Amino acid sequence: MPDTMNKSKVVLADRYAQCNLPDPELDKIINLIYQRAGIVITRQRRDMVCNRLAPRLRALGVESFHTYLKLLESTPNHDEWQLFINALTTNLTSFFREAYHFPILAEHARSRSGGYTVWSTAASTGEEPYSIAMTLDEVLGSNLTGPRILATDIDTSVLSKAKTGTYRLNDINNLTQEQKKKYFLRKVTAGEQQVKVRDSLQKDVHFQQLNLIAQNWDIPAPFDAIFCRNVMIYFDKANQKRLLNRFAKLLKPGGLLFVGHSEHFNNMDSPFRLQGQSVYYLAKDKV
Ligand SMILES: C[S@@+](CC[C@H](N)C(=O)[O-])C[C@H]1O[C@@H](n2cnc3c(N)ncnc32)[C@H](O)[C@@H]1O
Repeated sequence: MPDTMNKSKVVLADRYAQCNLPDPELDKIINLIYQRAGIVITRQRRDMVCNRLAPRLRALGVESFHTYLKLLESTPNHDEWQLFINALTTNLTSFFREAYHFPILAEHARSRSGGYTVWSTAASTGEEPYSIAMTLDEVLGSNLTGPRILATDIDTSVLSKAKTGTYRLNDINNLTQEQKKKYFLRKVTAGEQQVKVRDSLQKDVHFQQLNLIAQNWDIPAPFDAIFCRNVMIYFDKANQKRLLNRFAKLLKPGGLLFVGHSEHFNNMDSPFRLQGQSVYYLAKDKV
């Protein structure tokens, strides 16, 4: 699915093609986004950084990156910090992305007793947690009180979209007819065909802002499964390792960790062992 959030960033980028981001300011931005979000950006991504932040300068009526950074750094709690982070995240996602994970999740949920809970740690615009919700509903039914999926992200703008549960009709192309009917309502907004996640599914998902590199997480652990897909690729080894160790403590015995297909941790000294297809379980001696 083409990602709407990234698309809008690209559209804005086109408008600010004449971006001027000098080396010292680029280096500062690289440093700040790493400190605040753990995201590693190299100097080679100058154009991306420049084009994504240029609209922020425009919105504030600021003429240079130097002035923009002075504003940020002079006020550690300035609201602009969040918008700075939102601008620099990459939010690409889709329903049932890396589809092979969902039958594994279904089988795992089927095999366990008690309330099954999942944490989607980089939920972006919501397609991942809603895909998890559909999978669990098909396996476990919906007669459960309270949400069973915690969906978090650092980016407040994607979370706002996720909470609306509203998507373009084309975004659910790869769902079965049954899933479309059971889990979505159709509507037309401003002439555009849209779908909205039904309340019966939406109630299973609780959205909350959370920074994966923050010292403390206020979350209802433990979980049967943790999805941390396509976000650790933006982190360095030290933060990846730290995250894996923290996840290990938040999984129930026999729980599973799902990561993106390009994220490999088997050779890293971590408490997890590869079960197959980018799904990890806790090593026995680490439980
Ligand atoms: C490429 S999307 C992945 C979405 C989904 N997990 C998937 O695989 O389709 C990466 C997401 O990670 C989020 N992210 C980046 N740094 C983060 C951090 N430090 N804490 C929490 N989320 C973060 C971004 O905002 C973005 O929405």
